[in-house]
Amino acid sequence: MVKQVYGILGDPVAHSLSPVMQNAAFTRLGMDALYLAFRVPREELEGAIRGAKSLGIAGLNVTIPLKEDALLFVEPDKLARQIGAINTVDFSTGTPMGYNTDGLGAIQALQERVGDLTGKRVLILGAGGAARAITFYLDREGAFVTLANRTVARAAQVAARLTNVHAIGLGAELKAHLTTTDVLINTTSIGMHPRAEETLVTADMLRPELVVFDIVYNPIETKLLAEARRAGVHTCINGVKMLVYQGAAAFRIWTKREPPLDVMEQAVLDALQRGP
Ligand code: ATR
Repeated sequence: MVKQVYGILGDPVAHSLSPVMQNAAFTRLGMDALYLAFRVPREELEGAIRGAKSLGIAGLNVTIPLKEDALLFVEPDKLARQIGAINTVDFSTGTPMGYNTDGLGAIQALQERVGDLTGKRVLILGAGGAARAITFYLDREGAFVTLANRTVARAAQVAARLTNVHAIGLGAELKAHLTTTDVLINTTSIGMHPRAEETLVTADMLRPELVVFDIVYNPIETKLLAEARRAGVHTCINGVKMLVYQGAAAFRIWTKREPPLDVMEQAVLDALQRGP
């Protein structure tokens, strides 16, 4: 049998640890498979997905900033269609099928630290593909979500589709909102390489009881999480578990096998320790 090839499309994508994580899982399970990173600008996305299908690539992940655009070039399942963004493509049926495993990954990572999310007031920074997916799941869990985004209209678009979801900007309203927030989640690329020195929220805007979750995993402690530590926040959650859980869900879709979660997490932690 020919080696199965998988990959991740994104821009930037060089710091993605999905290759390290998925290749560790393939190796552990003795599978003849390889996972690669491809830097694909927005305007090349359609060609990249078509080309991947023609080349016999088995499956793809899609990351920043392509998750919403990618929906146009695949057959999304019901959940991905509702969310309006995908992060996983499966070619095994011949048609590129689109799935979204981001929301599930984030909710699992959050619930294992926080428990029940019913009635929790959650403030999400960002309104892109990842924010859409997480908002959808939080809404289903009965949380009250506010999306704070640089482009307020984009957040309003997401909010308009759901009952308990509201949109605000990143200015003074953000600071005011944080005083009544239970969980803060950063879904923007602020804090991720090459913007590792930046954060939208600083220590003076935080309090110890607030849960702070950054879905960025590289660096493992983002500027936001460092600020949270400085503010004495008790529950800080980095992006590693979400990376593992969303990747594991994609792995199940592609291979129909149970991935080794511990091996995947260790591969990510080792790579983060080694540094760039
Ligand atoms: P993804 O699909 O992975 O979520 P995305 O759709 O590109 O990626 O979304 C990135 C998010 O980061 C958006 O909310 C974006 O804000 P805009 O909607 O205003 O573009 C946010 N973002 C990116 N760069 C930012 C910056 N410099 N300041 C504030 N927000 C930023």
